[in-house]
Amino acid sequence: MSVIAPDEDGLQRCLSDLRRGNPVAIPTETVYGLAGDACNADAIAAIYACKQRPQFNPLICHVADMDMARRIGQFNAQAEKLAAAFWPGPLTLAVPRSDDCPVDPLASAGLDTIAIRLPAHELARNVLRRFGAPLVAPSANPSGRLSPSTAAHVHALLPDINVLDGGACAIGMESSIVGCLDDRPLWLRAGGLARADIEAVLGMPLDELPETQDATAKLAPGRLARHYAPMAALRLNAKDADDNELLIGFGPDAPKNCTANLSPTGDTSEAAAHLFRLLHEMDAQATRDGKSLAVMAIPQDGLGEAINDRLTRAARG
Ligand code: TXA
Ligand code: MG
Repeated sequence: MSVIAPDEDGLQRCLSDLRRGNPVAIPTETVYGLAGDACNADAIAAIYACKQRPQFNPLICHVADMDMARRIGQFNAQAEKLAAAFWPGPLTLAVPRSDDCPVDPLASAGLDTIAIRLPAHELARNVLRRFGAPLVAPSANPSGRLSPSTAAHVHALLPDINVLDGGACAIGMESSIVGCLDDRPLWLRAGGLARADIEAVLGMPLDELPETQDATAKLAPGRLARHYAPMAALRLNAKDADDNELLIGFGPDAPKNCTANLSPTGDTSEAAAHLFRLLHEMDAQATRDGKSLAVMAIPQDGLGEAINDRLTRAARG
């Protein structure tokens, strides 16, 4: 299979894959997604199989517009407010499924809620508009591996599928997820939209998920999964590289011997945009040279929370 140019021919190939129920990778502004018809159980099963994903971890439904979103989910006042402020963009809303929701239950892995996102990437929107129905699209990587932020990453990770080339993802980090299930919006996943920006629009702090296995399984099943792991070992909060390490730096004070710098100016949005690309590159280099990886401390502000979440999981391996 191949990397497809984003012209009319490429779009047609992509749409014909989708109509036949074959997974196809598409770009979004966050990361590349492995897309399939959200109303077709076989297409969804093919995605789970391709990702080797545990089926309890449900998928996000991507929509072309607010009408499509309202057909599949119930939006309370807070969900409406967040959608109006941040869609299209890197925010996913988990809401109750609508009464006559056409999305196959396999997509939400049996939950009575549904995660919805209206992506901003022009190609993703074009595919969605022309397909005319919601598309599930988990990140286009095998389960537990790093998310892809370029078409080349996807091709390396999943060589058997077609990938529509939309360049490097501008945000480079999965969407933030907020649960709008009652009047207390829940912070379910730190991602490409900073928590503070969401709270500013809501005019209230986001609730934390209760720390029980049951609540996690029901509300944020993704947190149970091993995630984002590079092949090489990863050490956090490094100040310097040990002999056998490649160091990923951050900020203007990074030591001279670091192999790469996530953001020489110390900007967490820039660091997020480079995170997966750098991890992919450095992981390949480390694996080749028999080395391990180390990364400097990243501040928690802005997208730093999401970066630290991904790095902590990556370090756990
Ligand atoms: O930026 C993104 O969100 C990317 C791009 C491709 O859109 N997609 C992505 O999908 O990151 P994925 O499948 O890798 O992550 C989806 C997350 C999982 O952690 C899953 O548990 C959570 O969304 N999720 C899905 N449905 C949910 C629901 N009903 N309630 C709570 N969380 C849900
Ligand atoms: Mg993922």
